Amino acid sequence: MQMKNKIFTLFLCSGFLFFNACTEEDDPSTDLSVSQTVSSETPVVGKDVTFTITVQNSGPSEATGVTVTDNIPAGYTLVSATPSVGTWAGTTWTIGKLASGASATLTIIAKVNAAGPYVHAVTIAGTETDPMAGNNTASKTPVPVVKINYVSNVKPLLVASCTPCHLTGGANPNKWDDYAQTKAKIASILDRVQRAPGSSGFMPKVGTQLTAAQINTLKQWVTDGLLEN
Ligand code: HEC
Repeated sequence: MQMKNKIFTLFLCSGFLFFNACTEEDDPSTDLSVSQTVSSETPVVGKDVTFTITVQNSGPSEATGVTVTDNIPAGYTLVSATPSVGTWAGTTWTIGKLASGASATLTIIAKVNAAGPYVHAVTIAGTETDPMAGNNTASKTPVPVVKINYVSNVKPLLVASCTPCHLTGGANPNKWDDYAQTKAKIASILDRVQRAPGSSGFMPKVGTQLTAAQINTLKQWVTDGLLEN
């Protein structure tokens, strides 16, 4: 409120002490709002995803007692929570005071788990009256994708089927318990495991043929970009 108006209000209020118009100063109101963005709408299971939460006080009053509730669901494991102001503890970002026109951000980094729920909802609240309640929550529901990676999928498969010849310490120079070597020879691996059993060059040289599902896992590893983990 401008000084001129304050003086006017003072003048008015001293004359009409019990009129409602004079209680304006005692009834502050704010328009708190919260929004969020996510680093990927289709994050990879096992990898990190970043939620950036932005809060704003569009006034007219200063907001006090401002908190944001962020119940991270079972689909994620919290890695870090970094607020631009205030503190993070448990499921709550405590901001405290937020001036009219001010904004602040919280950066949540979380690992994507194999099973959901994946809905990430945040809610802002403050002490003052907030007539615009519609912008006090924000929600994002990424749809995670599973990608084949060497450590979790390919290595266990090859170690089980190609032992002992292709393991470190084995007779063959090609080591399938080594990521770089496996990645370099994946075309040859796919060729050998799809030859007719018993024919020249068929792999595994001894033991059972890989199942169609196992061969698909190797093919999908190529499609997914030969990730290590
Ligand atoms: C009993 C030992 C043995 C087992 C088990 C075995 N291999 Fe082999 N592997 C060999 C030998 C010996 C060679 C070299 C002769 C040849 O190339 O056929 C070879 C060669 C290869 C090559 C060619 C490497 C190159 O330089 O291009 C590939 C690919 C391969 N194996 C994949 C596999 C895979 C995949 C498995 C498991 C599913 C497997 N092998 C299981 C013994 C084995």
